[in-house]
Amino acid sequence: MSATARKSAPMPDDIRAAKGGTPIVSLTAYTTPMAQLMDAHCDFVLVGDSVGMVLHGLPSTLGVSMEMMILHGAAVARGLSRAMMVIDMPFGSYEENPGQAFANAARLMRETGAAAVKLEGGVHMAETIGFLTARGVPVMAHIGLTPQSINTLGGYKVQGREGQAEVLLHDARAVSEAGAFAVVLEKIPASLADRITAEIAIPTIGIGASKGCDGQILVVDDMLGLFTAFKSKFVKRYAELGEAAEAAIEAYASDVRARKFPAADHVFADQAPKKA
Ligand code: KIV
Repeated sequence: MSATARKSAPMPDDIRAAKGGTPIVSLTAYTTPMAQLMDAHCDFVLVGDSVGMVLHGLPSTLGVSMEMMILHGAAVARGLSRAMMVIDMPFGSYEENPGQAFANAARLMRETGAAAVKLEGGVHMAETIGFLTARGVPVMAHIGLTPQSINTLGGYKVQGREGQAEVLLHDARAVSEAGAFAVVLEKIPASLADRITAEIAIPTIGIGASKGCDGQILVVDDMLGLFTAFKSKFVKRYAELGEAAEAAIEAYASDVRARKFPAADHVFADQAPKKA
């Protein structure tokens, strides 16, 4: 599947059908202008709960609310016309039981226009994934490092090492068999990501996983150099926009203090210029 060759937004089933083909391209987005920039290039755009850390300065994703997701989801939807939109279910909005998950997933889709939701968890979320898909909610699963569980995972460390590979394989099989249309694999050994990709029927979307995954995702502010609080090994910086923005702000401040801005070009005369 290639976003540039496509005329209309893919559906979750199109993403599922892209398994083993041209790698699926995705990025996170939280605002309309950024969504507009990536619309022609991505197969799907994720309104990630990373928005809490990236745009709101929170220390983790745990403080993200339904209202924050809806606000950013609606903004992203206004910037997309070709790429499919997936939205994260925030911490505490789905874990209690399938009924709670359905009510909140339906609200996210209804109020933002997202085509699908993403939730974190493997075997223990399989029942909920089946419940949602049977009721019209396409689900993207997320296993490996699941940031909403950092307090039980012991931080942001690589998952699936030291005899834990089988646990993750089990998780991947469970979400695939439960009806998820794709699964994000975050921060796991490349060889394990390749094994999972070969074994399960649905596309794997890697972040800190392997180039052998069926697709890749990055947090857009990480790859553009806009989020610089820390940098994971799995992030490739494609630009240093943070540095460029700071240099521009510094130049503006210096112009204002030196009365070089505004210049004649930026101010208005008493009379409107006469038309020729
Ligand atoms: O919230 C997010 O940005 C994510 C991606 C890292 C997959 O879940």
